[in-house]
Amino acid sequence: MNPTAPSSNSPAAPDDTPAASAAAADELAASGAPAPSDASAGDSTADTAQGQLPLDRSWWQNVTGRSEAGRPGAAMPQTEATRVLPAAPAAMAATAATVADRPFAPVDPRAPQPRPAGGLAMLEAREVSAWFGDHKVLDRVSLTMEAGKVTALIGPSGCGKSTFLRILNRMHELVPSASLAGEVLIDGDDIYGDHKKLTDARRSIGMVFQKPNPFPAMSIYDNAVAGLKLTGTHVSRDEKDDIVERCLTRAGLWKEVKDRLRQPGGGLSGGQQQRLCIARSLAVQPRILLMDEPCSALDPTSTRVIEETMSELQKEVTIVIVTHNMQQAQRVSQQCAFFLASQSTPGAIVEHGDTDAMFNDPQDVRTRDYVNGVFG
Ligand SMILES: Nc1ncnc2c1ncn2[C@@H]1O[C@H](COP(=O)(O)OP(=O)(O)OP(=O)(O)O)[C@@H](O)[C@H]1O
Ligand SMILES: [Mg+2]
Repeated sequence: MNPTAPSSNSPAAPDDTPAASAAAADELAASGAPAPSDASAGDSTADTAQGQLPLDRSWWQNVTGRSEAGRPGAAMPQTEATRVLPAAPAAMAATAATVADRPFAPVDPRAPQPRPAGGLAMLEAREVSAWFGDHKVLDRVSLTMEAGKVTALIGPSGCGKSTFLRILNRMHELVPSASLAGEVLIDGDDIYGDHKKLTDARRSIGMVFQKPNPFPAMSIYDNAVAGLKLTGTHVSRDEKDDIVERCLTRAGLWKEVKDRLRQPGGGLSGGQQQRLCIARSLAVQPRILLMDEPCSALDPTSTRVIEETMSELQKEVTIVIVTHNMQQAQRVSQQCAFFLASQSTPGAIVEHGDTDAMFNDPQDVRTRDYVNGVFG
């Protein structure tokens, strides 16, 4: 693991240490939200919030090996990447402290949620390959993740599931040694296409990580709406209240936190923190939600709540989940892809299709052995 690379598996943040805040900032940035840099949640610098990141085409060409004509890209050199992610613990504490304490206007959280612009989205990976330095870790992975469905990515450790997910969210390019090839399309539109900004993709594609990383000192309320600025939509205080309630409700957390919204996110249990991170992702109304082992650190009750949440969310958001839990894959997904790598061969998809068929009538003996626990 490159120590300078942004990591999706940053340690959980039990306190307000710079490391904990940076981990939360990593996740927030990756989930499409700006890292808070002052006392106003989400009021980060305009270039960060609006995705006006400097383009460096030669760097892009170096890391991707793709022609500049075909792919000018919006890749960032590491110095710029790190500039996006800093967090200020003291400022965040101030944020929590300055939020006015006032009652909410009544809203009906069951009222229809306004559809994200464009409605349900299909995500398609075409011939995606990935490298870390000279090490090729994915080889020509093609997969269609159908609109309004949950697609589960399964496979043994190290076969490239997280790397694939990070390519879908344009996180992979933030790793200094990383390169990639192929295309990722939302409803036919390549997220790596000409003139596409990093934050265009992040706005459409939210991400929830293995270990929940809310901003620990920031209030639950401010955590939930920390990414709102990214939409470029200025919302009134009442609208913000509505969004907080809706997102926390959709994430299955509202009832547990509605009387403690001004308390720090870091004071929640692990399962609650994960649902807070889901709420935070939903606040920017992504069309696609990527989840990398979102329940692996959770107890069965929290896992069940999150699975129920996913089942509700898939009516509005296309979901891709990485899981090592075969029962979970069967419970939550309609589509499934089995990844496999070996020491000498990079990760690739062995088989994909309907989840029921993958588990009950796999076509490849390796799939059959894996889903039956023979290896992995
Ligand atoms: N930042 C990095 N630098 C170098 N190599 C990396 C980096 N991240 C991942 N790798 C390598 O890429 C390969 C795929 O890793 P990845 O994390 O995508 O696997 P995974 O399927 O998600 O595994 P797990 O189930 O354990 O999470 C592995 O060989 C891993 O060591
Ligand atoms: Mg992984």
